[in-house]
Amino acid sequence: MSASRSGSRVGVWLIGARGSVATTVVAGCAAVSAGLHPPTGMVTETAAFTDSGLPALPSLVFGGHDTVDCPLPKRAEELAAGGVLPPGLPTAVESELAAADREIRPGGPLPGDTRDEPALIASFTHDIQDFVRRHDLTRAVVVNVASTEPASTGAALPPSSLYAAAALRAGCPYVNFTPSTGLHHPELAALAAESALPYAGRDGKTGQTLLRAALAPMFTQRALAVRAWSGTNLLGGGDGAALADPEAAAAKNAGKERVLADTLGTPPEGEVHIDDVPALGDWKTAWDHIAFDGFLGTRMILQTIWQGCDSALAAPLILDLARLTARAHERGLSGPLSALGFYFKDPVGSGPAALADQYAELVRFGDVLRGGEGEGR
Ligand SMILES: NC(=O)c1ccc[n+]([C@@H]2O[C@H](COP(=O)([O-])OP(=O)(O)OC[C@H]3O[C@@H](n4cnc5c(N)ncnc54)[C@H](O)[C@@H]3O)[C@@H](O)[C@H]2O)c1
Repeated sequence: MSASRSGSRVGVWLIGARGSVATTVVAGCAAVSAGLHPPTGMVTETAAFTDSGLPALPSLVFGGHDTVDCPLPKRAEELAAGGVLPPGLPTAVESELAAADREIRPGGPLPGDTRDEPALIASFTHDIQDFVRRHDLTRAVVVNVASTEPASTGAALPPSSLYAAAALRAGCPYVNFTPSTGLHHPELAALAAESALPYAGRDGKTGQTLLRAALAPMFTQRALAVRAWSGTNLLGGGDGAALADPEAAAAKNAGKERVLADTLGTPPEGEVHIDDVPALGDWKTAWDHIAFDGFLGTRMILQTIWQGCDSALAAPLILDLARLTARAHERGLSGPLSALGFYFKDPVGSGPAALADQYAELVRFGDVLRGGEGEGR
C-alpha cells in the first residue's frame, strides 16, 4: 500500500537544512498542504503522476543537518524580506517551520572538529536513525542541499560524501541536488552497491541548464551547426558566495557544459562564468550567447536571458524528488535512478540528455511506480 493511502509518514532529511532552498522546501510544502498556494512547478502534482502511489505532501516530515544555527522561522522571514517567499507566509506556516527547526542537528565538520571520518559518519547516521524512530517514519529520504564544495581530490571523504555514507548506513535513499561529490566517491561505490538503496543526482537542473537541455536538441534536429555556446551567470545569496570560490564554480560549470556535450554530440566552443553579486540575493540572471551556422554557412546568433529566483525553482523539484525516491524505495527499486535525469545536470546512470526525452522517461517511471508496464530494473 502506498504511503499516501496507508496514512504513514515519510521523512525528508535535508543536508543544509537552514539554507535558502531547504527553507523554501519546508515553507512551500506547508503552504501547498494547507491549500494556501497551488503546487506550481511540482511535476509530481500533474496528471501524469496520479495514482503513482507517491507520498502525500502532508505526510512529509522534515529534519536535517546544518553547520549554522539560524532558526528556520527567522531564515524564512529573511527570505520573505528578499521577495523569495510571499509576505505573510512565514507567519502562516510558523508552526511547521518551528517543527522542522527542532529536527535540525549540528552537521560537520564544524570549526575545530576533532572527530575523524568514521566518527562523523556514525554521528550523522545516529541522527537520521533517531529521527526515523522518534517519528515512527516508514522511511526517510536524505537530500543534499548544502553549499557546493570544491571538487574533491585524494582519498579523504569530503563532507557531502560523509553524509552520503551516513544515508546508506541508515538505510535511506539518497538524492544529491548539488554538484558536490556525495556518492560519486570511489570509496563509496561498494557501500552503495551493497546497500541496495535507490539514489539520484546530481546538481539540480533549474535555470540556465534547463534551457540548454531544451534548446540544444532544437539545433541538432534542425541540422544547424552550433559554433560556440557561452554563458554568464550573476547571482547572490549563499549559493553566489559559495560559487565565488573558483573550485566550487568549476564543479558547477562542468555539469552545465556536460549538458551541451551530451545533447550536441561534441562540446562547442565557449565557457560558463559565475559572478557573485550579493545585491541580487536569491535572484539569478543567466545570459547565454549561441553562435550557429545556417544554410551555406550563414552566421547567426541566438541570445537568451533567464531571470529566475533560485530557491523557488529548486524547492518544488526537491519535493518531487523526495516523493519519487521514497516511492521507488517502497517499490523495492535500487541503484541509480536514471529515469530522474530530467531533474539533473549530471544524471546518474545512463539516460537521454534532451529534456523532452528525459520527460518521456520520467512519465514512464511514474507508470513503473504505479506498478504498470516496465516494472523492475
Ligand atoms: N536553483 C537552485 O537553487 C539550485 C540549483 C541546483 C543546485 N543547487 C544547489 O543547492 C545548494 C543549496 O543552495 P542554497 O541557495 O540553499 O544555498 P545556501 O547557501 O542558502 O544554503 C546552504 C546551506 O548549507 C549549509 N552547509 C554548509 N556546509 C555544510 C555542512 N558541511 N553540513 C551541513 N550543512 C552545511 C550552510 O550552512 C547553509 O545553510 C547549493 O549547493 C546549490 O548549488 C541549487
